[in-house]
Amino acid sequence: MIRIYYANDYEAMSRRAATFIAAQVLAKPDSVLGLATGSSPVGMYAELGRMCAAGEITFSRVHTVNLDEYYGLSPEHPQSYRYFMEKNFFSKIDIPAANTNLPDGKNPSPAAECARYDALIESLGGIDLQLLGIGHNGHIGFNEPADAFVPGTNCVDLTADTIEMNSRFFASADEVPKRALTMGIRAIMQAKKILMVVNGENKSQILERAFFGPVTPAVPASILQLHPDVVVCADAPAMAILAAKHPEAVIR
Ligand code: GLP
Repeated sequence: MIRIYYANDYEAMSRRAATFIAAQVLAKPDSVLGLATGSSPVGMYAELGRMCAAGEITFSRVHTVNLDEYYGLSPEHPQSYRYFMEKNFFSKIDIPAANTNLPDGKNPSPAAECARYDALIESLGGIDLQLLGIGHNGHIGFNEPADAFVPGTNCVDLTADTIEMNSRFFASADEVPKRALTMGIRAIMQAKKILMVVNGENKSQILERAFFGPVTPAVPASILQLHPDVVVCADAPAMAILAAKHPEAVIR
């Protein structure tokens, strides 16, 4: 089941998404949270940091598993997802460092790292709530459009489109790693709840396709239509096409 929440702007979207995470952690203080990077969740992380500093929630018993990491980047690299998470979230909350997990982009064996990560997720008992953004091509994590859904954590070749989109964070497209480690579709689909944050007019087409088009590995996010508990928090520009075509599906 998919519930799509409309927010007027990025701030309202971020606050609403933070409320869902906070509710999860209040209900289950030792939750396993699957986390995501990208510009979409930055405001939500800031709001959760504020709530934690104000004593409204604690992450002291939470464990986290991030979706993905660039292959070849060290945790200290400013464009690595570990660096992003430390800067935007982990340093702002009271989570023990040992409870935070990302794929290790420096493991010389991608296959060994993928196996380690899947075993880790299993040892934590799976994911209670998985946060997702969506790529312009419908990717979730770094599960790119393909001929088939890949179940386990895997090392992917990034598409030219994704390299181009993500080059805004690097000095040039040449510096964007060509490969990434990403959680697979199984761990995402086995998460008890999914929370997706989407903002910006340039996501409006893919958002509508993902949730109202056919379920296909050509649009990886479309598989979420088969998940029992998905909440989408989107801002007005991202919602433009969806709200016009399917007004009945939008919760205001
Ligand atoms: C990146 C990440 C995804 C993220 C997506 C959207 O490539 N691997 O996890 O959801 O692209 O990013 P943004 O939120 O910046 O649009």
